[in-house]
Amino acid sequence: MAKVTLNHVWKRYGKIEAVIDLSAECKDREFFCLLGPSGCGKSSTLRMIAGLEEISEGEILIGDTVVNKVEPKDRDIAMVFESYALYPHKTVYANMAFPLRVGKRSYTNSEIKDRVHKAAKILEISEFLDRYPKQLSGGQRQRVAIGRAIVREPLVFLMDEPISHLDAKLRTHMRGELKHLQKVLNHTMIYVTHDQLEAMSMADRIAIMNLGILQQLGTPDEIFNQPVNQFVAGFVGDPPMNFIDCTLEASGDNWQLTNDSFKISMSPELIAKFKGKNGDLSSGPMEVVLGVRPENFIITNEKGNEESFPGEVYVTEPLGEDMIVDVTIPKNKLKLKTSVDLDIRMGDKVWLEAMKNKIHLFNRKTQQAYF
Ligand SMILES: Nc1ncnc2c1ncn2[C@@H]1O[C@H](COP(=O)(O)OP(=O)(O)O)[C@@H](O)[C@H]1O
Ligand SMILES: [Mg+2]
Repeated sequence: MAKVTLNHVWKRYGKIEAVIDLSAECKDREFFCLLGPSGCGKSSTLRMIAGLEEISEGEILIGDTVVNKVEPKDRDIAMVFESYALYPHKTVYANMAFPLRVGKRSYTNSEIKDRVHKAAKILEISEFLDRYPKQLSGGQRQRVAIGRAIVREPLVFLMDEPISHLDAKLRTHMRGELKHLQKVLNHTMIYVTHDQLEAMSMADRIAIMNLGILQQLGTPDEIFNQPVNQFVAGFVGDPPMNFIDCTLEASGDNWQLTNDSFKISMSPELIAKFKGKNGDLSSGPMEVVLGVRPENFIITNEKGNEESFPGEVYVTEPLGEDMIVDVTIPKNKLKLKTSVDLDIRMGDKVWLEAMKNKIHLFNRKTQQAYF
């Protein structure tokens, strides 16, 4: 078993609290992503798991063993960093064989050969084994760096932004490769990235962090569709969710979200969800934030139903099939995603309607989600 457990883990660098009371469990054989903006404590967390950084408080377990005091080389992990350093004067084969030659366990030459060839085959770099790093492309070099990590077949892989520096096309390619690789090897993977698309597309589960604090731990679907707060809602999704300040008010059973541009009535289901999260309007209207993803607006040239509201097209960005449309409404500019077939241009008046089963609502003060 190679689950990884963090119990109330803290990392302090002097006065800086880089990781704050982090508890999470990465399951055996799971592809687990640590996601968050730069400086949120991802690398510190990973380095503590690897043993490269002391744990200030709390404990980390690999399998059932507390590893706080276990040397990195005895943790049965392999780590791949963004800045992989291959030995320039060694061939690809020698680079990949290196961890087997210097490790604690000794391997015979034929075992080393088997393992290197097996890893090279998985990574499709068999034909490059006699080359030197400078004779490879960036993506090929990165695969060698990953190969060097997998030859030992460790219990856990730790990867810190391993593909962040690659160009966009190669990054997309490597996303698929890494996900495939993890399923083929069937080992536990903890993968750090600041790129929400990487996390959403590769992970079984995502732990999303901000300012050293775990915000939400869940499947990509849960993170995307049931974000627990405004930070998570805004961090995941591209273009990001629109946030619109509104007032929530009730007159009898008639609950409405209002602002300068629109009135949206709340269905009984939404009211029940709001109340289920201790939402309470008994002491009068409440300041809230409505969240609508760009793809969750219906946009038309003419007024739709009585809840649709007008705006003006600020700019359109056709992207092949989809089109991103910026629309100004009083006090706000919204980003919408629609079909490129919609005939609208800059300056046009359009009508918008939020898809009610897709909207989110946040407490403006605490930024916590009601739904
Ligand atoms: N060795 C260090 N000494 C002091 N502060 C550090 C050190 N390493 C990281 N930090 C600080 O800890 C915080 C978290 O850093 P890090 O874990 O590298 O975040 P991330 O990987 O998410 O970008 C940041 O504020 C960073 O400046
Ligand atoms: Mg980092």
